[in-house]
Amino acid sequence: MSRPIQIVILGASGDLTSRKLVPALLRNFAEGSFPHPVQVVGVSRTDKTSEAWRTELSEWVAPSLRDAWEQLAPSLHWLRADAATPEGITTLRRALGELIEGVPEGCRERSGRLFYLALAPALFGPVVAALAAAGLLTCEPGDGDGWRRVVIEKPFGTDLPSATALNRALLTHLREDQIFRIDHYLGKETVQNILTLRFQNAIFEPLWNRKHIESVEISVCETVAMEGRRGAYYDTAGALRDMVQNHLLQILALTAMEPPGSLHADAIRNEKVKVLQSLRPLTPQRVGHDVVRGQYDGYGSAFGVAPGSTTETFVGIRALVDNWRWSGVPFLLRTGKAMRSRFTEVVLRFRTPPIDLLNGPTPENVCPLRPNDLRLQIQPNEGLKLGFLVKQPGPGLVMRHAELGFDYHQLVGEGATPDAYQRLLLDALQGQATLFIRGDEVEAAWGFVDGIREGWAQADPPLHGYAAGSDGPEAAGELFRGCEGTWSRGP
Ligand code: BG6
Repeated sequence: MSRPIQIVILGASGDLTSRKLVPALLRNFAEGSFPHPVQVVGVSRTDKTSEAWRTELSEWVAPSLRDAWEQLAPSLHWLRADAATPEGITTLRRALGELIEGVPEGCRERSGRLFYLALAPALFGPVVAALAAAGLLTCEPGDGDGWRRVVIEKPFGTDLPSATALNRALLTHLREDQIFRIDHYLGKETVQNILTLRFQNAIFEPLWNRKHIESVEISVCETVAMEGRRGAYYDTAGALRDMVQNHLLQILALTAMEPPGSLHADAIRNEKVKVLQSLRPLTPQRVGHDVVRGQYDGYGSAFGVAPGSTTETFVGIRALVDNWRWSGVPFLLRTGKAMRSRFTEVVLRFRTPPIDLLNGPTPENVCPLRPNDLRLQIQPNEGLKLGFLVKQPGPGLVMRHAELGFDYHQLVGEGATPDAYQRLLLDALQGQATLFIRGDEVEAAWGFVDGIREGWAQADPPLHGYAAGSDGPEAAGELFRGCEGTWSRGP
C-alpha cells in the first residue's frame, strides 16, 4: 500500500461540499488522477454518521459515475467537531491519527494532508492557528515527502487591511507555498487558455498592445439574482467585492500580463501582480466618471437583504493599466446580477485601419468599417471568435462583417470540459500553485477595489436602477466614451 492523502474539509455541511468538492473528488478519482489512496474527512458541528453523509452525497452522483462512487464512498468519513475550538481540533487530530493507523509504518509519516477551509471567513485565521498549535500543519523531520497544505475559499478579506492581516496571520504558521487561495475562475479551462492563446501562438502577441488594441472589455454577466439564502452574504459584499476584486481582476491580469519567464507558478504570478499594481487608482474625483454602479429593481425585497439597501448588484469600470504595453487603453469591466443573459467574455477591439479607402460611409456602403475584434468566450459556448470585414460579393464595394470561430465542444464534445474545482483540487493535491492567488496579488486587487469604495463613500455617485432581465444601467454605456463599440450582448 502506498502512502495515503488525507483531505480534510472544514465546514463540510455547506453546499460547496456537496455541489462542488465531492463531485470534483469523485471525477478525479474516476479518472484515476490521484497518485495515492485518499481519505476524506468532512468536519462540521452537525451531528451525523459517515453513513448518513455518504447517502446524502450519493444523491448528487451522476449515473455515469456510480461505479466510481461505490469505490470511493467508503473513504469518506464524517466527523462532528467544532474546528473553531481547541477541543474540536483535538478530536480532529485523534480522528486523523486513527484513520492513518491502518496504513503500514513507513508510509504514514510520508502522507500528504490537505485542509480545505470552506468556513466563514472570520474563522480562517483562528482555525489555521489552532491547526498549527495542534501540530497538524507541520511534518516531522524525517517525514520524507509528506506535506501539509491549506486551501482558503473566498472571500479573502473584505478590504486591503483585513486581507493584509489575514495574510500575516496565515504566514505566521505556514509558508506561502503551503497556502492555496482559491479563485474558481482560474480553474476554468477557457481562462487558462488565455495564456496558451497569447504565448503559444506567434500571431496574436505582436498585436496585443496599445498600438493595435483600442479597448479591452471584460464582461461577467449573470442572470441569477439573490437565490436561496444568498442575500444576507451578498448584501454585505456587493458586486465590486464579490466579483471584481477576484474574478474580473484575475481575468484582466491574465489578459494584460507580460510573457512569463517560465511556466513556474511564481513566474506567472510575478507578471500578474505587476499588472494589478499598475492599475491606475480611481480617485474620488474619477470614480463618478469611470465607475457606474447599479442595483436591479426588486433587490431590496430579496430574502436576507436589508430594506433600503444601497448595495450594488451591477458595476461597470473604465480602468487603465499604466504600463508601456497598455498605456491609454481602457479596460472596460462589467458584472451584474439579474441581467438579460449569462455569459463571460473578453473582447479585444482592434484599432481601425489608418486610412478608410472607402472614404467614409456612402449610401451603398451600408456596413460601417468597424474595428476587428477578438472575442474570448469564457462561458457558456466556450470558444473564440475573430471578427473582420469581407467584401460582399457583387457589384460595388460593400463590406460585411464575418467571423472565424473556434468552439471547444468540437474539440472535446458537449459537457466534457472539466469543472473548475476538479482541476483546482487536483492541483492543490499536487502542490501546483499556478492557478491559485498569491498573497501579494490579493492585496494589490484589494488596493484597487478599496480606492473605488472610498470614492463612493466620499463622492456618493448615483446608484442606477435597472430592470431585472435587462443589460444593466444605461449609464454604463458612457464608459465607452471615445472608443468604438458598445458592451457585448453575449453569444
Ligand atoms: C462566485 C460569486 O464567486 O462566483 C457568485 O460569489 C457568482 O456571486 C459566482 O454567482 C459565479 O461563478 P460562475 O462559475 O457560475 O460564473
